[in-house]
Amino acid sequence: MPQKKILIVDSDVASRNFIARKLQDLKFDILQAGSGKEGLIFTWRDRPDLVIADPVLTDIKGEEFAAKLRADARTVSLPLVALSSDHNPMRVRSCQDAGFNEYITKSGQAVPMLTDIVNRLFGISKAEMQQGGLMMVFFSAKGGTGTSSLCANTAMNISKSQPEARVAVADLVLPIGSIDRIVGYEGVQNILTVSQKSPLQTDKEFFQKELPSIELWNFNLLAGSPDPELSGQLDASRVWDVIMGLKQSYDYLLVDIGRSLSKITLPLLQHADLAVMMISTDVSTISLTDTVLGYLETKGVSQEMIYTVLNRHASLEGLSKREAETMLGIQINAAIPYLGPNFGFANSQHRPFTLKFPTDTASIIFHESAREMIELARKRRS
Ligand SMILES: Nc1ncnc2c1ncn2[C@@H]1O[C@H](COP(=O)(O)OP(=O)(O)OP(=O)(O)O)[C@@H](O)[C@H]1O
Ligand SMILES: [Mg+2]
Repeated sequence: MPQKKILIVDSDVASRNFIARKLQDLKFDILQAGSGKEGLIFTWRDRPDLVIADPVLTDIKGEEFAAKLRADARTVSLPLVALSSDHNPMRVRSCQDAGFNEYITKSGQAVPMLTDIVNRLFGISKAEMQQGGLMMVFFSAKGGTGTSSLCANTAMNISKSQPEARVAVADLVLPIGSIDRIVGYEGVQNILTVSQKSPLQTDKEFFQKELPSIELWNFNLLAGSPDPELSGQLDASRVWDVIMGLKQSYDYLLVDIGRSLSKITLPLLQHADLAVMMISTDVSTISLTDTVLGYLETKGVSQEMIYTVLNRHASLEGLSKREAETMLGIQINAAIPYLGPNFGFANSQHRPFTLKFPTDTASIIFHESAREMIELARKRRS
């Protein structure tokens, strides 16, 4: 993670230095401003990740400071914390109305409260990734292999076999997602709308309460980018926070990254409790799969972290499971047969395959592979 920048705006030098020292101890890059005007200039020039400002400034009012930041596109959702000696509830209210996300009063509790906020915003460490729900990341080397269908159907099977568990699916396929179409979600919330919110708004409670629950599928969905044009606006640094929030709020988080290995998605594979790779039986997909597996090995995603699923096997064309294993030099964990038009039917009616065709062998395979994935992910975690 790149070092995060925090700007402290306070006309009182001693108070500013005190907070700066405390935050420097936590290894943040600290900037300081002595007035509101200076604070605005530094914010727009240096682009800090968080601004902590005393609303009682010598030149402009804190409310004006916040309102100016909120009125500018670059800083509409910048996390903004008021740190003030003014306990008056009216002042708290007017600061919040002007755009401060949090209001902390200068007291013995101020430093622990600030620490709590910065940890919530930036505190992503390996140790923290090990906490919270199990994360499984679904991917493939080539498009159209059935990754999104597998991701949604696996999530549904997990929630069916563990009705008390909270299961979420996040669609991070760029530039356009598809799980919303598979499950029939037509709402407006998606990875873009959520990542545009301030990190202070998207806390654990937000993900528990505001993520739509999908009927029949029994999971909560963070839908993907609705169109390629908009996906360019996705703030990569926010994706990480969103994933952390989801992990804290759900027992299982299944993330679809499709075939897009990028600087956003590679860290997700590296920190997943299990990576699930979809492979199809044609020679060109197998060859790309071999290349991607080799690449991932160099990035610390080793073979034993990856659960492999061969899709559309036993069709007339394509390689057998044995042939695919020989070409890749690995063991394939599960194989889903070619389902003719049935999979497409289930998808186009927005129904889980297992509900639409409960007695089909593929339903049994979905169920079994979901169970194995959980077992492997748990084992890796411990
Ligand atoms: N085993 C199968 N038998 C028949 N059809 C299948 C099978 N697996 C997937 N399909 C069909 O293939 C199509 C593509 O599936 P899906 O969207 O899940 O693939 P994907 O890998 O996520 O694609 P994309 O690259 O577009 O993200 C869907 O219409 C699905 O119903
Ligand atoms: Mg897909």
